[in-house]
Amino acid sequence: MGYLSTDKKKITATTLRDMKAAGEKIAQITAYDFTTAKIFDEAGIDSILIGDSASNVMCGNNDTLPITVDEMIYHAKSVAKACNHAFVVCDMPFGSYQVNREEGVRNAIRIMKESGADAVKLEGGTEILDTIRGMLAAGIPVVGHLGLTPQSVHKFGGYGLRAKNEAEAAKLLEDAKALDEAGVCALVLEKVPSQLAKKVSETIKAPTIGIGAGNGTDGQVLVYADAMGMTRGFKPKFLRYFADVNKCMTDGITDYMRAVKDQSFPNEQESY
Ligand code: KIV
Repeated sequence: MGYLSTDKKKITATTLRDMKAAGEKIAQITAYDFTTAKIFDEAGIDSILIGDSASNVMCGNNDTLPITVDEMIYHAKSVAKACNHAFVVCDMPFGSYQVNREEGVRNAIRIMKESGADAVKLEGGTEILDTIRGMLAAGIPVVGHLGLTPQSVHKFGGYGLRAKNEAEAAKLLEDAKALDEAGVCALVLEKVPSQLAKKVSETIKAPTIGIGAGNGTDGQVLVYADAMGMTRGFKPKFLRYFADVNKCMTDGITDYMRAVKDQSFPNEQESY
């Protein structure tokens, strides 16, 4: 464990930079509800992301596009209440910042005000730089997100590896530098070659947090339902299962059903 992981003080945007400077990797995971976030926060996770992956994980949608600002605030509010230690980042959903700077800043302010999150995260590079600048000017910590940007799935036609060729890699590096110079407090790099992610991480001041981006980033993030082995049938190369919650819950619910049916639950001690 690193020096900050054992210190249960609240992690801030400044702590994330200190961790990068100290070479301590940042462990981030998603969560969307109070109970799950509390388990992760008490275990000492550095950061919790209320990803718009809530659209898939919580609502059963095929992609992240349908989730709304109101729904993100609902999830983020529940998570923020659980976190005494972790740095809480709330995704800005599709459509909440792409129209123009004013609308983006207004929605970011709403998310910060109503959810209690510590930062917002947006997908994109120079095309949303002005909007990001507006948020930073309003005092809102912003996390960038480059590489595979799931809100643009229809533009790219899938969830494949990004920045595979030289031109795309150069564009990603330029975007990363521009976001860094604007002052983002961290940058998510999703599904890009590990050499490129390492280069970006060594080039910019802000800590990078990778998912499917190899081991050269300043931290890692995973969707908790995948990492904890809750989901079935989704096993991209970058994913490792750190628990088998699906089996644990299936065993538990099977035992419960059996005990109800055979009337061994509730017993004398469990009754008033
Ligand atoms: O929505 C999400 O969970 C994310 C992570 C995969 C980085 O953006």
